[in-house]
Amino acid sequence: MEFVFDLEQNKDKIKELKFFMRENRGKKGLLMATLHEAQNLFGYLPIEVQRIISQELRISLSEIYGVATFYSHFSLVPKGEYDIGVCLGTACYVKQAQQILDKVEEVLGISVGQTTPDRKFSISATRCLGACGLAPVMMVGEDVYGRLKEDDVEEILNKYR
Ligand code: FES
Repeated sequence: MEFVFDLEQNKDKIKELKFFMRENRGKKGLLMATLHEAQNLFGYLPIEVQRIISQELRISLSEIYGVATFYSHFSLVPKGEYDIGVCLGTACYVKQAQQILDKVEEVLGISVGQTTPDRKFSISATRCLGACGLAPVMMVGEDVYGRLKEDDVEEILNKYR
């Protein structure tokens, strides 16, 4: 699924990003700092933005892409209105969290790291959410669901459709 990035609509944010790079030119770790800044500004790192960073910092696009895909903090697609995280930490994993995740993927028709075409839902890789007593745990946006069963998944997601 290709998401269209509108350069015109984002021109003020692009200006801000260029200003950030120029202000910090020559500083150590500028690429990482710039990618963080871009992710904060746009919510993800579209290829058009990676190209702008490549030109400004004179770093090859493939190097930028490599860094952007290496760190799970960065996303190459926009997150959905509701980002879903099924915890795969140990306590959840032993309580069949993988089956919960499989069900979420099946119901939404997308995999971890992807966003539905209507941008309503995205699924992110998630480690311990600090609610192990409620295992297995899933978050939908800010809402936490615990002691889940595979059969609960569809009903929960329908509440957000
Ligand atoms: S392991 Fe899932 S909440 Fe801790």
